[in-house]
Amino acid sequence: MLSQKKIGPLLPSPPPDALYRQPNVPIDVRVNDLLTRMTLEEKIGQMALVDKNSLSNIQDVSHYHLGAVLSGAGAKPRINTPAHWQEMVLSFRQEALRTRLGIPILYGIDANHGNANVLGATIFPHAIGLGASHDKELVQQVAAATANEMKAVGLNWTYSPSLDAPKDIRWGRVYEAFSDNPQLNAELGTAYIQGTQIAADNKVSTPYTLATAKHFVGTGAMIWGSSYNKRFKIDQGTTVPSQQLLDSQYLLPFNAAVDAHVSSVMVSLNHWGETRTIDSSQLVNDKLKKELNFQGFVVSDWYGGYEYARSSHYEANITSINAGLDMMMLPFEYKKFISDVRTAVSRGRIKQSRIDDATRRILYQKFKAGLFDEILVSRKQNDVGSAKNRLLARKAVAASAVLLKNSAATLPLSKNGLKILVAGDSADNVGKQCGAWTVEWQGVNGNWLPGSTSILQGIRNTVGSNTKIDYDRNGLFPTTSSKADVGIVVVGEAPYAEGLGDNANPQLSDNDLKTIERVRQASTRVIVIIVAGRPLLISQQIPNWDVAIMAWLPGSEGSGIADVLFGNQNFTARLPISWPARLSQIPVEPSGLTADQSKLLFLRDYGL
Ligand code: BGC
Repeated sequence: MLSQKKIGPLLPSPPPDALYRQPNVPIDVRVNDLLTRMTLEEKIGQMALVDKNSLSNIQDVSHYHLGAVLSGAGAKPRINTPAHWQEMVLSFRQEALRTRLGIPILYGIDANHGNANVLGATIFPHAIGLGASHDKELVQQVAAATANEMKAVGLNWTYSPSLDAPKDIRWGRVYEAFSDNPQLNAELGTAYIQGTQIAADNKVSTPYTLATAKHFVGTGAMIWGSSYNKRFKIDQGTTVPSQQLLDSQYLLPFNAAVDAHVSSVMVSLNHWGETRTIDSSQLVNDKLKKELNFQGFVVSDWYGGYEYARSSHYEANITSINAGLDMMMLPFEYKKFISDVRTAVSRGRIKQSRIDDATRRILYQKFKAGLFDEILVSRKQNDVGSAKNRLLARKAVAASAVLLKNSAATLPLSKNGLKILVAGDSADNVGKQCGAWTVEWQGVNGNWLPGSTSILQGIRNTVGSNTKIDYDRNGLFPTTSSKADVGIVVVGEAPYAEGLGDNANPQLSDNDLKTIERVRQASTRVIVIIVAGRPLLISQQIPNWDVAIMAWLPGSEGSGIADVLFGNQNFTARLPISWPARLSQIPVEPSGLTADQSKLLFLRDYGL
């Protein structure tokens, strides 16, 4: 525990005209002024990122001078409404302002496909779908809309974009990335950061949301079977160190993110060979901070300082802070962290200058984003799930759906006069459409997200009154003398996040295949729509389908799929990732070279 003597109340509060409190003073001067006024404890507090559910009580935010609070996936207010979110977030932010220095906190969240923890938010396609759009402007707009939905509830820091370039479709985080192509990740990551960090409402005078480029570094190249987590296979695993790949592939999107002035970079939970990436001064200090000249702050991943540490937590903190980590996502051990770091400084194990550098970096980004000059007031949450944002999401869904096969020009379908069968486990299930990181860490099941539209509902809303739509989830339709004109089967994956989605053999389930077969028997043409976070192994089945569409994880606006089916929008998307035909081809290099050097099912960039 900290001694009460050293903190807050006994020290004077600087006067209202202190340099750091003045909006028109240059940021460097403000940071310097504030730093000279701070005690060691106040500086270490800035380096602590605590999960809101792990705080013993809200007063600890001010008592320990915390720099940031987060809602880890699913950490929501008692009642999940935009108004309750705002009330909760602002209460933490206001608590921080009660300290003598009044340093604002960051409140972070994984708003990685819209501000999707908030019930009623617009859920945009997961990043892999945005990658398929190849559309920088669209990505920037999606990021800006997400930032506005965050701002509407008081959140000011997102843990996105992911710049991972997955080489192995068995990894449970493929969909969080734009692409397996570092160059495309660099371009779309830049667009995402620009969209996030422009002032919400496009006013330069209003504070902006901070973005985080993650997961540093080489995370998409982890090796199957190398996970340090007993429950996982590849997530939290090992990347084989390669200076050449580091320089030619892995650093590329981070370099772009630094050029786009990203505020923070998150260090991954992977190992770089034998070394935890978080402990690698060569990667964090030398590559990221010196070589790429990153001026923002480096944050750990969840429990990253301690996960798989081979020494005590005290020693682990010393190693990673000296390796260049500026803020630790603890996310609960904050009291011990603060006293450990203080002890380490007093024993000379962490230099005072390192603490000053970390604090300076964090404060600089807070000043730059306008947080010191923001007046905290509750506001209407009109942006959350707004018609404008849903329309943008619908556009993004249409722009992300990849047409893999279209025999006999089956698409676009006519809106009129057809008899259409719709089936499949994902046809009428918004939870599956949204995937994980939606309300809960592992996502949700069913159609209860306010304002959302399933793919089936989207189809029904699009067709004319003389089109007959029959729906059965399992494709069990009564036998009739004539076949339906078209059968649409929507199948794929149930939501999963992180290592829980590691899957040795990503393919359609037997149940999905049976449903497709039933509908195929009952229709003249069969259209298969895949709702999944990664390419699935379908080379045996696709010859039997007339049309195949990869919808990725489109989010709350299922109408976007109907738009491309019925020709409201043309298909424009292209695969952002190589699509293997079989397991022996994995991992696939960004160049498209497969492990067994055989031909992929679809090359990256393919799309009709
Ligand atoms: C994930 C990060 C995420 C963090 C905070 C971790 O489990 O690896 O990507 O940003 O949690 O929720």
